[in-house]
Amino acid sequence: MLRTRVNDINVAYQIRGRGKPLLLTHGFPLDHSMWRFQFEVLATEYQVIAPDLRGFGQTTRGTAPISMKQFADDLSGLLDALGIFDPVTYCGLSMGGYIGWEFWKNFPERICRLIQCDTRSIGDTELVARGRRQMAKRITEQGPNGSALAADGMIPKLFSEHSAQAVPERVAQLRGVIAENDYQMIAETQLALANRANANDWLPDINIPTLLICGEHDAISPADEMRVIADAMPNATIKIIENVGHMAPLEHPQAVNNLIRQFLKQTDSSC
Ligand code: MLT
Repeated sequence: MLRTRVNDINVAYQIRGRGKPLLLTHGFPLDHSMWRFQFEVLATEYQVIAPDLRGFGQTTRGTAPISMKQFADDLSGLLDALGIFDPVTYCGLSMGGYIGWEFWKNFPERICRLIQCDTRSIGDTELVARGRRQMAKRITEQGPNGSALAADGMIPKLFSEHSAQAVPERVAQLRGVIAENDYQMIAETQLALANRANANDWLPDINIPTLLICGEHDAISPADEMRVIADAMPNATIKIIENVGHMAPLEHPQAVNNLIRQFLKQTDSSC
């Protein structure tokens, strides 16, 4: 991993390839490695950047309060630090998608295409927010064991039954990533997720080419909900991947890569 100073943190990131920049933003509470099946393949045609977000993986926590907007600010700062001033194709999964809405809102000049995988636009209901607050409390009470608690709670929701049987080593690897992350950061980010903006009202104004990708059996951002997002956006298409859950890029990399490559070719003139 390379490292660079951004705002009050040291950002760890991978960068590879030449061509138009493609920024890959991971979900919660993961790290850049969730994109490992996309990174090399897409770097044959694009300049691919895959950072660890503030407080996750090898990126430091700093002191700024955690929010989706702060993560978006950090990503913009990373692009500055890398000297990337052309608009990027932003690709996020789940929380990476929530950050994607904020990135579009706050840095419209930096984004020319959007790829949102397994994500939502609506904010949390009070019920969901309360669940997150309870989870954050339990994680904090557990101390360093709280990360394993979070991993055990999340892993069953991330993969389809088919994937859990077909690629158990990927499930185990992702469990390890969550368990290795800092428990305080996981708890704090749960609270930030509970407070995130409702991006529904923004959707009609996001008129850059957008690809929405969702696993057929996604239990966190269901395909029907992502269809509604596609309908609300003026320039979006949605693709559903069969037999797959919330972690489409890990569960069926080839399908995700094909969809991304096809979309990037079709919309090449937009960036
Ligand atoms: C994620 O995958 O980023 C999370 O499941 C998002 C969430 O908890 O809403």
